[in-house]
Amino acid sequence: MSAQAVATEVLSSSSVLPPFAGAHTAGGQDFEVIPFNAGLGAEIVGIDLGKPLSVADFARVHRAHLDHHVVVFRDQRITPQQHIDFSRRFGKLMIHVLHQFHLANHPEILIVSNIVEDGKPVGLGDAGKYWHSDISYKPLPSLGSLLHAQELPAEGGDTLFANMHTAYETLPAEIKAAIDGKVAVHSYLAKYDDMKKAANWRPTLSAEQLAQVKAVSHPAVRTHPETGRRALFVSEGFTTHIEGLPEDESRDLLNQLFAHSTKDEFIYRHQWREHDLVFWDNRSLIHLAAGCPTHLRRKLFRTTIEGDLPY
Ligand code: OGA
Ligand code: MN
Repeated sequence: MSAQAVATEVLSSSSVLPPFAGAHTAGGQDFEVIPFNAGLGAEIVGIDLGKPLSVADFARVHRAHLDHHVVVFRDQRITPQQHIDFSRRFGKLMIHVLHQFHLANHPEILIVSNIVEDGKPVGLGDAGKYWHSDISYKPLPSLGSLLHAQELPAEGGDTLFANMHTAYETLPAEIKAAIDGKVAVHSYLAKYDDMKKAANWRPTLSAEQLAQVKAVSHPAVRTHPETGRRALFVSEGFTTHIEGLPEDESRDLLNQLFAHSTKDEFIYRHQWREHDLVFWDNRSLIHLAAGCPTHLRRKLFRTTIEGDLPY
């Protein structure tokens, strides 16, 4: 298929694409979208994210992200600035509250790492210890995140992604009825003290940091703003309770939702390779860091795109 034919096909099949500011390069890259067997996720093969994408190429990547919820780009030898530039084409970038772990001169990048240098952690060492959707504890949660491998352990360190559309669709009728129309409270502090106890490096939050992470309420089931599909929007990492229910009922319902949404059949397990860049949709998925032996070094860079008000 010629680049022109591809462009026409893609643009005509994507009525939901918003306008965006970006480079308009003539000619595209020759790449393919290859879905995984897991029922979610795809690899995008043959693209170099270090080069500005044409309008048609960007549209295909955007479409693949919406269709598959997590897309994997192998062997991306890109700089932090190129990572940021590509991420920005999808929206405004969020600055993480733990400024201790921003990459020097690039506050848009959060360092996710278990490495300790001179007694100081270089990054967030236990990011993703519990299932979560990034920044769901803010009034405007994240659209998606892009994680770029810098240093990988020889063993372990996988990231798991669970499809919250299929999780919602397959809920038993009585649980679906119990959560429809309900509002859930999300807090950055939900597991903070537990994690601080388990890992002595976690900083004590300043008054200014605490002010940035006030608890918020979001619908327990949200509608994806670009595809219209409904998805469960609660997670063990950040959801504390369901509004309007007695505490034990809320806990019981959440535990059932957490157990259901992380069943094997909804999961894609990413095994990292050097220079992988993985881009997921926080409106469609929750994710978890499987962890690796503590003596093995692991370091990744993350950008996080701001999303819409959930409805
Ligand atoms: C994150 C995260 C998981 C991992 O960076 O948002 O949850 O496997 N990371 O590092
Ligand atoms: Mn995360």
